[in-house]
Amino acid sequence: MIFRQLFDHTSSTYTYLLAERAGGEALLIDPVLENTDRYVKLIEEFDLRLVLAVDTHIHADHVTALGALRARTECRTAMGDKTHAEGVSVHFREGERLRVDGLHLDVLYTPGHTDDSYSFLLRDRVFTGDTLLIRGTGRTDFQNGDPAAQYDSLFGKLLKLPEATLVYPAHDYNGMTVSTIGEERRWNPRLQVKGRQAYVDLMNGLKLANPRLMDVAVPANRACGLKAAA
Ligand SMILES: [Fe+2]
Repeated sequence: MIFRQLFDHTSSTYTYLLAERAGGEALLIDPVLENTDRYVKLIEEFDLRLVLAVDTHIHADHVTALGALRARTECRTAMGDKTHAEGVSVHFREGERLRVDGLHLDVLYTPGHTDDSYSFLLRDRVFTGDTLLIRGTGRTDFQNGDPAAQYDSLFGKLLKLPEATLVYPAHDYNGMTVSTIGEERRWNPRLQVKGRQAYVDLMNGLKLANPRLMDVAVPANRACGLKAAA
């Protein structure tokens, strides 16, 4: 399998390039608009054909490359059936599989950070978007965020995966690149709570500033990154 974790310095976003083999079909998860040239070059270097570009949710901190990649490569763009974005070619839902050559990604609906947040399970690893971060969890105070729903997504779905499952989040701000479900269960401070209400209280007590790009990124991302904020 070809697996590349790409980092956007401005927003600390991780983008993932996946393909079964060089010369075959490829998938990108959470691509960032400013890095489109880098993705296209890397895809060419591996002699890949990009067939699918996916966002785990509508991001508030960077503009997505979904629309730009579709224009450049004719790939399909995909988001979950709960998304508020327009112009997406494929909508996936919990229980479905995204198939790219021999790669099968199982779709998990993991709301809480936003109401359109999804995770993808691929063999030994899970792409958790902003639902589960390394030693953290995605904020729940805007974009229809809901700490109780996030608790259920975390404890009812993601933490039920085998302990050795690798965790690849959509961001990291501390230099971490990968974790495991077992590690997060033990060492993630947000997960050391007694129950749902304690988690809700913890999340509602965070006093976070809005992301710098939020007023630009959210409207743009509702149009796959092709429109600036109105
Ligand atoms: Fe996010």
